[in-house]
Amino acid sequence: MQSIRTLAIIKPDALRSGDAGKILTVIEDSGLTIEAARMFRLTREQAGEFYGVHKGKPFYEELLSFMTSGPCIALVLSGENTIARWRELMGATDPEKAAEGTIRKLYGTSVRFNACHGSDAPETARQEIAFFFSGSELPEN
Ligand code: CMP
Repeated sequence: MQSIRTLAIIKPDALRSGDAGKILTVIEDSGLTIEAARMFRLTREQAGEFYGVHKGKPFYEELLSFMTSGPCIALVLSGENTIARWRELMGATDPEKAAEGTIRKLYGTSVRFNACHGSDAPETARQEIAFFFSGSELPEN
């Protein structure tokens, strides 16, 4: 069993539309464990650092505007095959291409306003968790 943690973000669009609770319910019903949670509003500098890998892409500036447009909820999730499982629950980045019943299909409205984020690999997950949470905020592994 691979029990690596992942970082999930419930994005500003989902909080604005009142869907954050429904997304938390999807997570709880999936059997994944919420190990830590924080609600905050990113500064542009923080958003730029978090999404640094996308710098220079045509959607980068608008992505930063979106991610700083309101509060987010960051979550640390754990469980069996956590990274892949959370990505499966989210669905494809573009809600139009996401499978029926996935979070992005249900609550996303466009490739930018796609309701949630998830780390894509173990090393990214480690870096993204450390971006939002200090070691003392996380339960012992
Ligand atoms: P996320 O999984 O958080 O990772 C990068 C984010 O950039 C992605 O979700 C979308 O919100 C956004 N994004 C990715 N591709 C595009 C695109 N083609 N146009 C606009 N936004 C995008």
